[in-house]
Amino acid sequence: MNKLSITDLDLKGKRVFIRVDFNVPIKDARVEDDSRIRGALPTIQYALDHEARVILASHLGRPKGERNEKYSLRPVAEHLSELLGKPVYFVGDCIGDEVKAKVGALKDGEVLLLENLRFHAEEEKNDEAFARELASLCDLYVNDAFGAAHRAHASTAGITKFVQQAAAGLLMQKELDYLGRVINSPEHPFVAILGGAKVSDKIPVINALIDRKIDKLLIGGAMAYTFFKAQGFTVGKSLVEDEMMPTALEIIKRAEEANVELLLPTDHQVVDSYDPLKSKKTIPVEFTNAGLVGLDIGAETVAHFSTALRDAKTVIWNGPMGVFEEKELGFDEGTIGVARAVAEAADRGATVVVGGGDSVAAITQAGVADRITHISTGGGATLEFLAGDELPGVAALNAK
Ligand code: 3PG
Repeated sequence: MNKLSITDLDLKGKRVFIRVDFNVPIKDARVEDDSRIRGALPTIQYALDHEARVILASHLGRPKGERNEKYSLRPVAEHLSELLGKPVYFVGDCIGDEVKAKVGALKDGEVLLLENLRFHAEEEKNDEAFARELASLCDLYVNDAFGAAHRAHASTAGITKFVQQAAAGLLMQKELDYLGRVINSPEHPFVAILGGAKVSDKIPVINALIDRKIDKLLIGGAMAYTFFKAQGFTVGKSLVEDEMMPTALEIIKRAEEANVELLLPTDHQVVDSYDPLKSKKTIPVEFTNAGLVGLDIGAETVAHFSTALRDAKTVIWNGPMGVFEEKELGFDEGTIGVARAVAEAADRGATVVVGGGDSVAAITQAGVADRITHISTGGGATLEFLAGDELPGVAALNAK
């Protein structure tokens, strides 16, 4: 990476503003999944070990520029304190006199978490005065928020103009390193698995992957229904983006021309839209009638996808194969099945990179996380990076 790294900075006694991505699920004031917090620990620990005065800042959810307790980072401060085994001070805002006072009171090797940046609308507007305010809190700036690096916000982009040095954190470096290697020098066969509800979210990445000559593209999740409907199949009441049907046909054509094997589900789990609880069944996709809603891939598709991964040397996976959150009804089975299949590919020596909230949750739920080469903390950021876009949060950092 040609960007300045936290390891290039002289941190001792300095006020170091570390932008982290602590946008984590919180329920009843407790952190439900702390992977993103754990991901930032090496950078935080590095700064503390080098006797920096650490100021952590993050967004949480989309509070739309208004203070809302539901999106407070306070529970994260408590959780982080447990993980670090030391106090994490918290302040109920990210700019203003109280924040300045708390930063001023920080001693070397202490850590303070600021309240949600997005309680100020200026954050997402990349407002210059707000960025200056944030910058005035620190001597040095480190961006470790890979998950938010695709956003040109005040804390990820604007602030870098007003600090002495702007460097990448260790998590940021690790993400760029793994994802960069996968996209720039993959070993073949290279298999991409994409899921999720919408084709529209995935078009840039699909096009980039076809251009990069992946060998196989496996598509699951509701986005598959747009492909099926575009090809003339009945999809019942399954989720479809009608306006994306021409694009789906174009993708099929581009894949064919580029010699990319495109695999769609062959069976799926459906319910009758009128009596969902009692009617769940698995059927071949071509048996779908007008009253049915497809909610997950079936066991036969999981087996096909596993076979397609058999000789893979590089695998990327982003997006669930069904409505993963409906665990009680078992619509997480397809996604869990794919999680096991990619772990087996990794066991056979493939480099496996997984990104996106539900796919990562499935990896954890299936108990295979330690077998995966790299679990990305990014959702949208990972997709944009894999699509070949320059991430504003990375572009804004100083060159080495
Ligand atoms: C994410 O969860 O992908 C990042 O934290 C970015 O969040 P955002 O999509 O609300 O900007």
